[in-house]
Amino acid sequence: MSEIIQKDKQYVWHPFTQMQTASDAIEIIKAKDAVLFAADRKEYIDCNSSWWVNVHGHGNEHIANAISEQFKKIDHVIFAGFTHAKAVELAERIVHILPEPLQKVFFTDNGSTAVEVALKMVVQYWHNLDEPKRRILALDGAYHGDTFGAMAVGQRGYFNAPFEPFFFDVDFLDFPTAENEQEQLAYAEKLFQTNEFAAVIVEPLIQGSSGMRTYSSSFLDSLVNLAKKHKVLVIFDEVMTAWGRTGKLFAMNHCTVIPDIVCLSKGLTGGVLPLGLTVATNEIYNAFLSVDKSKALLHGHSFTGNALSCAAACASLDIFEKDSTWKNIKRIEDVNLAYQASIQNHNAVYETRVLGTILAIELETGEGNTYFSDIRDKAYNFFLEQGLLIRPLGNVIFINPPYCISNEQLASIYKAFDSFLLNIQKEKAI
Ligand SMILES: Cc1ncc(COP(=O)(O)O)c(C=O)c1O
Repeated sequence: MSEIIQKDKQYVWHPFTQMQTASDAIEIIKAKDAVLFAADRKEYIDCNSSWWVNVHGHGNEHIANAISEQFKKIDHVIFAGFTHAKAVELAERIVHILPEPLQKVFFTDNGSTAVEVALKMVVQYWHNLDEPKRRILALDGAYHGDTFGAMAVGQRGYFNAPFEPFFFDVDFLDFPTAENEQEQLAYAEKLFQTNEFAAVIVEPLIQGSSGMRTYSSSFLDSLVNLAKKHKVLVIFDEVMTAWGRTGKLFAMNHCTVIPDIVCLSKGLTGGVLPLGLTVATNEIYNAFLSVDKSKALLHGHSFTGNALSCAAACASLDIFEKDSTWKNIKRIEDVNLAYQASIQNHNAVYETRVLGTILAIELETGEGNTYFSDIRDKAYNFFLEQGLLIRPLGNVIFINPPYCISNEQLASIYKAFDSFLLNIQKEKAI
């Protein structure tokens, strides 16, 4: 065992990991484009963009230069009472690429805190207006992060069971399907008619952690229209779905409706530095303006508006202005679609889903989608052996790769998928 791994075991507590039974962590010594290079000379294609963040590939020079140039000017500065050019540039550019009503940018550190701030904004919005509405509506299967508010609006279950007694009450709609959409919309309207709902929060069009589950833009349009009709604020959690993942810059670009608040993070900095943004309409912002200081949004983090993160985010936006980025996104979607067509009738496959650069294969296990299904570990280890970093979500194997991934690399992923599906098929036959 290498010294690094020994010390890792001695000193480090890894996220989402049962430390007693987990295999040793893999030491990565270099990351370039879509490839992670391990200390033992193995190479891994980063099929999940290192927790869905690394959109342009590792070691992107434009982003590296932007961070380095920024460091020479300002590394970090308090963001209350002070500001700096990169934060202002980022806020202006974000407002210009989002639909017009979204005008005010609040800085946070990651996806969970971007959501946490959105929840505090909606609760305080109604409080400031002296109409205390407290109920929140969310979707079954949702994942919005690991802080308390974000957990409360997410799927309840083994991930957060110890904390559940501390959560505020949240109402959930069933996950929308072609069969139940109308029923769920009718239920949402019934809830909204109580006039008690502060907001509805959704991952637009695709739920990430619950297994890359897609639902229709027409459902989302209708839900948002109902919310607007009943003066319920709408939060889109685009932490996972933004930055080209769904084939457009934002998932909301597939819809006709616009939320009151959008949460952004992950690929915002190209996935190289932590940063979150909660962007709200002027209508929400204005409700916090007062001579009364307690009506302000009294929330902030030490690293709010970090200048290096802002520089990385501006550089990432530059890359999204290039045609080549969008050609790559389209190329990945096209080859994913072609591969999807080749496996959708496979008897080891329950369902396949492609949206933008995401390809998900729900395996037929006979036990539904459970995060701790045995097949998850089997698949994870199988793909590692093949030089692929793929972290399945229960019985769902999926890729959401950096956009620089080549067709050859994609072909090697599909080949490994084929072998894995064949193995399942063989096991079933025994
Ligand atoms: C939709 C969504 N919201 C929020 C989060 C939380 O983001 P973070 O891990 O940066 O706190 C995630 C993370 O996967 C996510 O997928």
